Amino acid sequence: MSLKNRSFLKLLDYTPAEIEELLDLAADLKARKKAGIRHNEQLAGKNIALIFEKTSTRTRCSFEVAAHDLGMEVTYLDPSGSQIGKKESIADTARVLGRMFDGIEYRGYGQEIVEDLAHYAGVPVWNGLTNEFHPTQILADFLTIREHFGSLKGIHFVYFGDARYNMGNSLMVGCAKMGLHFTACAPKKYQPDAALIAQCQAIAAETGATLTFEEDPAKAAQGADVLYTDVWVSMGEPIEVWAERIHDLAPYQINQELMNIAGSKAVFMHCLPAYHDHKTAVGKEMGERFGRDAMEVTDEVFEGPQSIVFDEAENRMHTIKAVMAATLGYQK
Ligand code: CP
Ligand code: NVA
Repeated sequence: MSLKNRSFLKLLDYTPAEIEELLDLAADLKARKKAGIRHNEQLAGKNIALIFEKTSTRTRCSFEVAAHDLGMEVTYLDPSGSQIGKKESIADTARVLGRMFDGIEYRGYGQEIVEDLAHYAGVPVWNGLTNEFHPTQILADFLTIREHFGSLKGIHFVYFGDARYNMGNSLMVGCAKMGLHFTACAPKKYQPDAALIAQCQAIAAETGATLTFEEDPAKAAQGADVLYTDVWVSMGEPIEVWAERIHDLAPYQINQELMNIAGSKAVFMHCLPAYHDHKTAVGKEMGERFGRDAMEVTDEVFEGPQSIVFDEAENRMHTIKAVMAATLGYQK
């Protein structure tokens, strides 16, 4: 199967077999890297552009390291250093960059921006996070689950917190595509959009996945293999929403009591960055303003033996490498 010249904008655009293919390629590239086998011949000399309208540690570094491993050159456009969206439209930017680069990564706001970029660029465009979707993160999460549990099908996956945004949406789509049992555990107003749920229900009917929406954290944790959460306030959201979010989502914090309901074989996952202590500037401010429990996960769980968040973070690089390699025509 060839994914050459395809963009990677959201998992809805990819079949389960194509997602599996990307995961297999990522596993293969990871094994080669660990064995010290270079893989920089086929794509050597290609150029990619990384557009970041929001900040990043993992995604940017993953694209850069992966590109270098594949023999490619990288140009990074930071949140303030280009004309994009201010002096120049996305359509014009896409047509300019498409003449210079072999592929373009975009992180920013609305999904329609990355879709527009792909429409006009004429080269593969990769979504490095929008408000609605974060598809490369899900590949890393699924590679990590596959490594830990041996397979994806039948895994009981529970997402706690704000399920209306990029992580909740993309995990629900990914689980529906790959046959996992997905539960979104959140108050009603934080559940995903009804139209997206309907789309995922139709996919789930084909793959054997199930989708459950649960307001009670203790019920959701029973029988869970994976307990997953994300920050309660995402990049680009105003500080004014903090108080309401913390009030509404505090009962959905992943703490040891919740992990114990799931049992010792369950794992904790988080896309990161996470608030789990008060050592960062934002964490400290949150602690001072809203109290020490105002975090999506406790330090005990984050640092505990069931946490696999750093395997997950490493896998961002291997899976992003697979996305670039496959869409730029790399042959295994
Ligand atoms: N998980 C993730 O996308 O991290 P960054 O914001 O650091 O890229
Ligand atoms: N929901 C978070 C994810 C960060 C990787 C955000 O958009 O900020």
